[in-house]
Amino acid sequence: MTSQQAGSSLYRICSRKGLSRILCAEARRQSTRGLSHATRTSCSSSAIRTRTLDFRRPYLIGRGLATRSETSAAAQMIEGDIYPKDAWTNTPSSILAKLPRRLHQQQNHPISILRNLIEAHFRDFSAISPASAIVTTHMNFDELGFPADHPGRSLTDSYYLNQTHMLRTHTSAHEVETFRAGHDKWLLSADVYRRDEIDSSHYPVFHQMEGARVWTRDQLPELKVLNAKMAEELAACPLVIEDISISSDSNPYQAQHDPEVAKEIAQNLKHSLNSMIFQLFGRLKAKSTDEEPLRVRWIEAFFPFTTPSYEVEVFFNGEWLEILGCGVVQQKTLDNAGVPQKMGWAFGLGLERIAMILFSIPDIRLFWSEDTRFLRQFSEGQINTFKPYSKYPPCYKDLSFWLPEEKNPKEARGAKAAGGGMTGVQSFHENDFCEIVRDVAGDLIESVTLIDEFTNKKTGRNSKCYRLNYRSMDRSLLNEEVNALQDQVIQRLVEELQIEPR
Ligand code: PHE
Repeated sequence: MTSQQAGSSLYRICSRKGLSRILCAEARRQSTRGLSHATRTSCSSSAIRTRTLDFRRPYLIGRGLATRSETSAAAQMIEGDIYPKDAWTNTPSSILAKLPRRLHQQQNHPISILRNLIEAHFRDFSAISPASAIVTTHMNFDELGFPADHPGRSLTDSYYLNQTHMLRTHTSAHEVETFRAGHDKWLLSADVYRRDEIDSSHYPVFHQMEGARVWTRDQLPELKVLNAKMAEELAACPLVIEDISISSDSNPYQAQHDPEVAKEIAQNLKHSLNSMIFQLFGRLKAKSTDEEPLRVRWIEAFFPFTTPSYEVEVFFNGEWLEILGCGVVQQKTLDNAGVPQKMGWAFGLGLERIAMILFSIPDIRLFWSEDTRFLRQFSEGQINTFKPYSKYPPCYKDLSFWLPEEKNPKEARGAKAAGGGMTGVQSFHENDFCEIVRDVAGDLIESVTLIDEFTNKKTGRNSKCYRLNYRSMDRSLLNEEVNALQDQVIQRLVEELQIEPR
């Protein structure tokens, strides 16, 4: 299982548990995911929009007028641009169909309501929403310092249009261009895409908001005063902040930064986010009968593009929930953006994760519902508690199969990483399995769970058994219709993953 979104889709590399190794796929899988990953309403940065397109143009072989995606054996046209296909192409049309949805900009939708609330909190920040989810692999990974073997680059984790272009996996992909456009205080919200497992908190498309604030060196003396004022305001809030994140050898300040200044920047980041969290979650606390103050904790983390880095968790309904990742921006990012004289912080939060908590939305698929019984429950500026209109019965089907015989490692799918080397050899990956299930069943699939696996001692062959749980959000499913879906799923799995049903 990979780790991302509604839980936490952080691209951290090592955790508070002191993992000093490069983030391995397993560490990411075990995390609880969620950045699951933003416009003073509509697109407000034409500079950014143009730049995004300019960046893409050199790779294009032509332009057309079509707005929907069209595909042929050799190339696909998406949003009017043609992307030649190659060995990297792995984005199904069911995912491309999500590109125009832009839930973060759909008025009265919980994702947009939450975006607006955060934008209202950071009143003097520019709100930006990039025009397209298509970015270069350079923007998504290379210019942020992702190592060549980072698992996020693999075909099993990300959606590629081809070797050079992909659907962004996080809003950090726009950091460099946004700093380059001269923004010093900004919030950027967008849909992000990651191949993943299937359950109530994971969906291949989710929304993130990136926020950043930078100062030129001559503005930095003001920071101390600002921090003192913010600390005073926060002290008046019923908020318990547990901060076990100290700068340490494993989470250092940057060599070119004066540690005193970096400390003030980190402090400003913490004050800014604590006050935002209090604003969002405090409202909810105020409504509940629970008299305990809101608890927030800061934990050491690692991202390739920030140091020191942190994760923030809030204590909600008896458990710690990770809601965002953040840190002091790597100076290299600002250098790359042509603003080496600036220093500052950045954060990335998962809008679904927070919205599920705030609005009590139990299943991430609901965000995609076009049923008015869902949509009519929400309106701008308000955090309403979602009232389930009905829970239709689930229908599950188990699928046992033999995995294909091990391939030549060089041919194994998922072994390549864009711009880099190998990311681990595997011929069967659960994300590939889930992708096919999702492609056939759409939002009728609720969860896919591994319920058994074993190796035949004599033959050495591996077997797995998954439970596919089908349920519609809006109606009762007929058994025949589920059987038909399951048959199609099996057929595709046999053809594309070479599994052998048992
Ligand atoms: N982009 C990171 C992720 O998706 C989150 C992040 C954003 C971390 C900005 C630090 C700074 O995991």
